[in-house]
Amino acid sequence: MRGLADKVVVVTGAAGGIGAATARRLAEEGARVVAVDLDEERVRKVAESVGGLGVAADVSSEEGVAGYLSAAVERFGRVDLHHLNAGIPGSFATLPELSAAEFDRVMAVNVRGVFLGVRAAFRRYAEQGTAGNIVITGSIGSLRGSADLLAYQTSKHAVLGILKGAAMYGGPLGVRVNAVAPGIVPTDLFAATPAAAGGKDDMSRRASSTPLRRAGTGDDVAGVVAFLLSDDAAYMTGEVVSVDGGASIV
Ligand code: NAI
Repeated sequence: MRGLADKVVVVTGAAGGIGAATARRLAEEGARVVAVDLDEERVRKVAESVGGLGVAADVSSEEGVAGYLSAAVERFGRVDLHHLNAGIPGSFATLPELSAAEFDRVMAVNVRGVFLGVRAAFRRYAEQGTAGNIVITGSIGSLRGSADLLAYQTSKHAVLGILKGAAMYGGPLGVRVNAVAPGIVPTDLFAATPAAAGGKDDMSRRASSTPLRRAGTGDDVAGVVAFLLSDDAAYMTGEVVSVDGGASIV
């Protein structure tokens, strides 16, 4: 893909299934990866495997975001691209059972974390005098309702608000902002959702009812993220690309 070689790219949630796959794919494309995650041990392993920098940070805190950016700048001198991907599912609860504290916990990571990451990216680009670009991980839950995962689904709708506002602001500056909306990808996060609650057989049934008749992989998502970050997507911004085997058209 064009324009990824030697770019410095931050990937958040990089210890997880989709983030680690993106880190690997971007490294294969020649990018220099800054892998960020709460899970220090796992993120260091991912970073080592791609010859990048691993940073333990909480994306929902301003200090955490400032910390990973300064570590990136200290190591590589600049930051070009961002995959803001860290997320949590929240607990599986019906609406009357969902506590306000749990709602706030999910919003803090999935919405505030993305807001802080996007804002920091724009500030960094302004400081550098460069125009990078950003991909946010949304979800099929950005587009659909869920009776049992309301906080998660609300948070994933909210990131589309950030996406659109940031794309409007960034366009004239040459900064593109896009999102991917994965469907079923069997990772740790997916295991905590109602879609996984029915066990492996239920997941296989759901996956096999999608047009492509299978669950997705981290690599399926990573390829689309790499494309959106690359110059091959130079005329795309504010876009939400479903990576769900066609599930969203059923
Ligand atoms: P995962 O659980 O494997 O990875 C998520 C990573 O985010 C974990 O390594 C976790 O430690 C990290 N993380 C959580 N809170 C953090 C924080 N405050 N600061 C820094 N890191 C934090 O899950 P997966 O599936 O790779 O999820 C990645 C993204 O994809 C999430 O935003 C998720 O909502 C989204 N997604 C996943 C789908 C799936 O089926 N797996 C479907 C649709 C969207």
